Amino acid sequence: MNAKPRVFVTRRIMQEALDFIDQHSDMEVWPDEEPPSPEELRTKVADAEGVLTNIMDRVDAPLLDAGTGMRVVSQLAVGLDNVDVAEATRRGIPVGYTPGVLAKATADVGFALLMSAARRIGESDRWVRDGQWTLAFHPLRWLGVDIHEKTLGIVGLGQIGLEMARRGRGFDMRIIYHSRTRRPEAEAEYGLEYVDLPTLLAEADFVSLHVPLTPETRHYIGEAELRQMKETAVLVNVARGPVVDAAALYKALKEGWIYAAGLDVTDPEPIPADDPLLTLDNVVISPHVGSASLVSRGAMCMLAARNLVAGLEGKPLVRCANPEVYETRSS
Ligand code: NAP
Ligand code: GLV
Repeated sequence: MNAKPRVFVTRRIMQEALDFIDQHSDMEVWPDEEPPSPEELRTKVADAEGVLTNIMDRVDAPLLDAGTGMRVVSQLAVGLDNVDVAEATRRGIPVGYTPGVLAKATADVGFALLMSAARRIGESDRWVRDGQWTLAFHPLRWLGVDIHEKTLGIVGLGQIGLEMARRGRGFDMRIIYHSRTRRPEAEAEYGLEYVDLPTLLAEADFVSLHVPLTPETRHYIGEAELRQMKETAVLVNVARGPVVDAAALYKALKEGWIYAAGLDVTDPEPIPADDPLLTLDNVVISPHVGSASLVSRGAMCMLAARNLVAGLEGKPLVRCANPEVYETRSS
């Protein structure tokens, strides 16, 4: 009987997914809370045929050089900014990822942040816990901005952006979007309007970011863009921290160019305790939990496990980020 292929899993994931991988491989799981360093990761993949990674692992040429027998990279995420997919493709290595199972959960968090920032929920919760709620009601206190019937601007109309739009529809919002590719079928189905970025920034009451982090989208929203937004507008970022210039965002929130921000992602992550953003009341921050519902994470773990095992078995991955590797192989 042939020995099972060795795989390295860089973080503990749901047990059901680990059991599935274990049935099909000789599996090692990194046991610590802190991720392996790049050197440790290179050592661990040296004799592995597959690796299951997450957004904290750098999958680059040196790692792929170390894993000389690598046949599959399976990323437990939809974002691939930590993975050099082009380099994997050059080497004929398929890269798995997890679209299709987390968009709704992530949009739920996006909308929760949108609402919290608009209606000052984080700030008022801190105030109550501080023992400051000494007067039951005041007509002029805790005024926020309305959500219903306002304009929601989606930047990046992919899976999560579309789910955000669907949620906006439930609040009777006008929905405008800007994206690399126009989606006429979504425009027709959900009544969306395509606009250029300056129009979106000028007209949206809520600007919600859903683009991947790439060289083109790093600091996509900087000082110039923030200055084009309404003074009453809320910025939501559930994409990646560096899509927004954090220093410019601090100035915008501090000096009132925009009303508030809701962030599930920061630059860097974790946000340092002395980051100036944390001194502001008009920002609400969650610690990169977009997909962190029990159901979504369970589905992500199983999908990542299935991608990994398919790659080990030489079968097409269930969800492959670089399907062109199969064309190269067959030509
Ligand atoms: P997706 O379906 O691939 O959607 C991304 C959209 O952005 C696509 O419509 C894409 O256009 C568009 N886009 C790409 N580059 C652009 C550019 N330069 N300018 C304008 N639009 C651009 O991805 P998704 O599943 O919605 O996820 C989006 C991102 O969210 C991920 O990459 C990840 O970084 C982040 N995310 C965060 C969490 C969290 O926990 N906070 C969870 C999941 C994902 P095309 O249609 O032309 O490709
Ligand atoms: C999470 O951030 C993801 O990209 O899936």
